[in-house]
Amino acid sequence: TELKNIIQGIPKTELHLHLEGSFEPELMFEIAKRNNITLDYDTVESLKKAYKFNNLQEFLDIYYLGAKVLIHEQDFFDLTWAYLTKVHSQNVVHVEVFFDPQTHTERGVSFDVVINGIKKALEKGKEELNISYKLIMSYLRHLSEEEAFKTLEEALPFKDWIDGVGLDSSEVGNPPSKFINVFEASAKHGFKLVAHAGEEGPVEYIWEALDHLKIDRIDHGNRCLDDDTLVQKLIEDNIALTLCPLSNLELKVIQKMEDHNIVEILDRGIMATINSDDPAYFGGYMNENYYETAKVFNLSKDQLLQLAINGFEASWLSPVDKDKHI
Ligand code: ADE
Ligand code: ZN
Repeated sequence: TELKNIIQGIPKTELHLHLEGSFEPELMFEIAKRNNITLDYDTVESLKKAYKFNNLQEFLDIYYLGAKVLIHEQDFFDLTWAYLTKVHSQNVVHVEVFFDPQTHTERGVSFDVVINGIKKALEKGKEELNISYKLIMSYLRHLSEEEAFKTLEEALPFKDWIDGVGLDSSEVGNPPSKFINVFEASAKHGFKLVAHAGEEGPVEYIWEALDHLKIDRIDHGNRCLDDDTLVQKLIEDNIALTLCPLSNLELKVIQKMEDHNIVEILDRGIMATINSDDPAYFGGYMNENYYETAKVFNLSKDQLLQLAINGFEASWLSPVDKDKHI
């Protein structure tokens, strides 16, 4: 259709993507087989049927299970390469992707195995698909700050490959303030800072992420409109939100797409972007996220272009590289 063609034609960025969340069931079964691991599901179809979530935690439980089949460097390479070829077909030209080292190191897979596989695929994507990239290491917030510090230590030999740190996993009950010290230490090592905040958690968590963690971009941030003072701050400090509409729908952050506040967020003048979060679990990559949003809100071509431009603006590309795209 016309709308789909418009979306396909726009060069896009993706700024909120968990590599482990791009793990398609078909590849999961293939890797499980070669690693001699039996999944709790017999077939791709029965696994896909389990992808029905009432909240973030129900999703996370199954997401961490799936990640358990990733053992060798080749597995992390295949995971990342599959994601890159998929978004290349959707005209995504720049990505800033998360990985969750603790999901793997906790199981005895070493940090270097994980990052070597990911890095090789990202480099190949740059060479062969012309996709530029940044890599973000995310701390799991259901674990302790001490564990996050251990992960930071393990990351230091690979410091030049990692552009920023993030904070993800179970939000409610694990406020940003739990990680003040490790974010401060991460900043001292030169990492950029982002955090998931205000997805399921309250607007106070967005304040904490800004004031205590000193982040410069918010992942999700749906609850920001609950506080006019915060809205003012986001505008004045030019702090972007990486929104993920299909994720919000699948995790019941909203009951239906019509309930999403993305248009109000844009109309208030906040720098909002569209992203896919965990596309293998939520039924859509970048184009599907744009499409479902555009369809429900009847977004104009100018609005779609603005969203895509926001993606470049909010990215960590240099000003010169941004100018090449915008
Ligand atoms: N890990 C992967 N996806 C996530 C999300 N949407 N929120 C928190 N943690 C996550
Ligand atoms: Zn996320």
